[in-house]
Amino acid sequence: MKTLISAVVCAAALVSAPAFASKDLATAKGCLACHSQGADTKIGPGYAAVAKKYAGQKDAEAKVAAFIKAGTPAGGKTIWGGPMPMPAQSALSDADAKTLAAWVIAGAK
Ligand code: HEC
Repeated sequence: MKTLISAVVCAAALVSAPAFASKDLATAKGCLACHSQGADTKIGPGYAAVAKKYAGQKDAEAKVAAFIKAGTPAGGKTIWGGPMPMPAQSALSDADAKTLAAWVIAGAK
């Protein structure tokens, strides 16, 4: 009986854990089609390069989360100086944008 109860508690803990690890989330949302986890540029900057750019900035997570949802601001130059703007990810929830921003800033491991 005890074993059964702990098995049930265990299963409940598994279910309540976040559905995706951040890398899986980035894969599921298509981010890794344009971004590498390293420093090298694919279509967009590598996440390790983004992490370096924001190292030590306090408000980085909020800024990056907002950028991810909105994409490159319309009409201006790209912020990384590349030929392509990042398209807005408007289908992304605020919570997912925050999770991805925190993961990228922490080095996308
Ligand atoms: C179609 C290709 C494409 C997809 C898909 C894409 N990005 Fe980007 N991303 C870019 C490009 C291009 C840039 C550089 C934009 C610029 O310089 O203005 C960029 C820039 C960024 C940056 C740098 C922001 C900064 O402030 O320096 C982050 C972080 C980022 N993307 C995260 C994401 C995440 C997370 C996803 C998935 C939800 C995603 N991207 C999906 C192309 C893409």
